[in-house]
Amino acid sequence: MQTVSDIKALRNTLAGWRRAGSRIGFVPTMGNLHEGHLRLVRRARELADRVVVSVFVNPLQFGPNEDYDSYPRTLEADAHALRAERADLLFAPTAATLYPRPLAAITRVQPPPLGDELCGASRPGFFVGVATVVAKLFNLVQPELAVFGEKDYQQLVLIRRMVEDLCFPIEIHGVPTVREADGLAMSSRNAYLSPEQRARAPGLYRTLRWLADELRGGRRDFAVLEAAGRERLAAAGFRPDYLSIRRAEDLAPAAESDADWVLLAAAWLGTTRLIDNIRVISD
Ligand code: PAF
Repeated sequence: MQTVSDIKALRNTLAGWRRAGSRIGFVPTMGNLHEGHLRLVRRARELADRVVVSVFVNPLQFGPNEDYDSYPRTLEADAHALRAERADLLFAPTAATLYPRPLAAITRVQPPPLGDELCGASRPGFFVGVATVVAKLFNLVQPELAVFGEKDYQQLVLIRRMVEDLCFPIEIHGVPTVREADGLAMSSRNAYLSPEQRARAPGLYRTLRWLADELRGGRRDFAVLEAAGRERLAAAGFRPDYLSIRRAEDLAPAAESDADWVLLAAAWLGTTRLIDNIRVISD
């Protein structure tokens, strides 16, 4: 596996692969790779001839009071794990390489209004940061396909929209969330939890599973269910941020006529914000 940090070296390698007719698969990450990320790499490996993974902690998607400085940076271990997964190229640029101008002065990608809901409501500017960096990375790597985790479901929906709206010729593939044995969705931020918080954390998934069972059982009083879910989260020791039942395809508010919903939640344990979701398809 080759590791490059500058754009010229990235483009040189990619040009050679393209001349050889290779289909390029891309997995963008912020590093600190865990099994959830490695599944994305495996999926890309199945779908493409060459697999490029980026590791870049993107300053543009962190708010002023968020964890940009303390976000775990583990490039050596990440490279080791990617080699074991037979990734072909690791692109690990510095912030100055991707953003040579001050962030306040750069061109940004503005997502549709959905970008201001759910995670975007409590993290203003987050999806502008995600869309901008993903668009830049897509332009640099120019892959045939890119793979994202369904754990960040709203991100996945918005990236599919961006690809359609901005005419990127890239297939987007989603990969199901990978969970710990007790149901907690894998996330780099789980490492921030104290042992007591870690013990409570699976309560988020438990609450979503309860809601999914209610929907599968035929309940359609969405607002009542959302309120009951938030109460359950609070009783389990979380500070709920949002809990929402949406149409899976585009995250429009849920309607009885839909057949495919996604239940999304974000909740705080101390200073750590966890997110999770479950899909419910009615038969
Ligand atoms: O999901 C992530 O890790 C990030 O939001 C992404 C897509 C790599 C953009 O920085």
